[in-house]
Amino acid sequence: MYPMNEILRGIRPGMPGRRMLPELLALVVREGVLERSRALSVFNLDELCGSLHRELGYDFSRGNRRRMIRLLIDLLVDCGWMEPARYGDRWSCRLHGIHLPGENPADATEGDGQVDFFRRCLRLVPGYLRGEEAPIAFDAENLHVWEEFLGCDEFQACRSVLLDRMASIAGDSASLLDLCHGPGWGIERAMERWPEARITAIDFTDAFAGSAKVRADRGYARNAARGRVSAPVEWFGPSDWKGFGHPLPFPEGAFDAVLFSCGDSYIRPDARNAVYADLRRVLAPGGILGILTRGYPDPEHRHVPSYWVRVTVLIHDFSESVCAGWHGFHDVGENQEMFSRLGFRGAWSPGGAMNLLDSALWILKKG
Ligand SMILES: C[S@@+](CC[C@H](N)C(=O)[O-])C[C@H]1O[C@@H](n2cnc3c(N)ncnc32)[C@H](O)[C@@H]1O
Repeated sequence: MYPMNEILRGIRPGMPGRRMLPELLALVVREGVLERSRALSVFNLDELCGSLHRELGYDFSRGNRRRMIRLLIDLLVDCGWMEPARYGDRWSCRLHGIHLPGENPADATEGDGQVDFFRRCLRLVPGYLRGEEAPIAFDAENLHVWEEFLGCDEFQACRSVLLDRMASIAGDSASLLDLCHGPGWGIERAMERWPEARITAIDFTDAFAGSAKVRADRGYARNAARGRVSAPVEWFGPSDWKGFGHPLPFPEGAFDAVLFSCGDSYIRPDARNAVYADLRRVLAPGGILGILTRGYPDPEHRHVPSYWVRVTVLIHDFSESVCAGWHGFHDVGENQEMFSRLGFRGAWSPGGAMNLLDSALWILKKG
């Protein structure tokens, strides 16, 4: 077991938000979104989208683009650039002169995979909002984009925290499903933190199969060098599973634990219930589900209280919206209600909370 503060060192909550806020605000100003909202005085989402369509050529006829404008409103309210009006879902712009905040030099270190990914996405936003197809997909062309992003320090540290807790509940030689394995960062980390776990990995595309297998082999070799023999990973791909909305190709109670990292936001909102009910089905009684995601900032600041985490979540959600199939981060209260209704309970100790770190890490036990 590793000391907690060593693991948490890679998690600097809110760091990407600090780095990216000036760039996102500059984009909002450059695109003319702020100018349009100022011209409307008091507006609702329909009125703002109508103006952005007429004046800037934004295309809200399909996809998640309308949701992106709602995300911007929530961000600008949190930043104090907009404020809610007294009645209904309406807002007004508070700014008369624009002063973009400068980047904090303490956060300006280069080379973070998460910040680089958000920058790449933001460069694609103007074209996407004007109707271009989602430019980043889960395909071979974007393999390196996903590898760099998903391997960032924050996600790796979060996977460690999740896996340590899951291992301590499920026991050393548990069966573990890595749901939506992607480039394999979760598998490699599981082999490091939980070497005796018997890992099964599944994804709905085989675009990542090669790189995930390389990471699995690397984890296997590292364990072997230390005299620990891990079981070979069992692989399932697109011929076994067509993705969220289709049942997983495993029998009831097949796994002691499921790791679900950075995939929740690709579930269609109307399929969430069925997807998590199916995940519960494949867990053994008392089995553990560990989820890495982010909680959508709530107006009451109860579930996501920290300012820079809220900013990070909104910028992350807005940026990744240019990726094919992105549905965004979900309301924490609704998640808690759904998980309880489906028969999960919280398994963080002490106290059995469902989530921690501003609702980014979830540990659920099949009741
Ligand atoms: C952001 S990646 C996360 C990958 C990996 N779990 C990690 O933490 O690095 C999202 C994953 O969800 C998968 N995915 C995206 N849309 C999906 C869908 N509609 N059904 C099933 N899987 C999907 C992708 O193939 C990818 O592996």
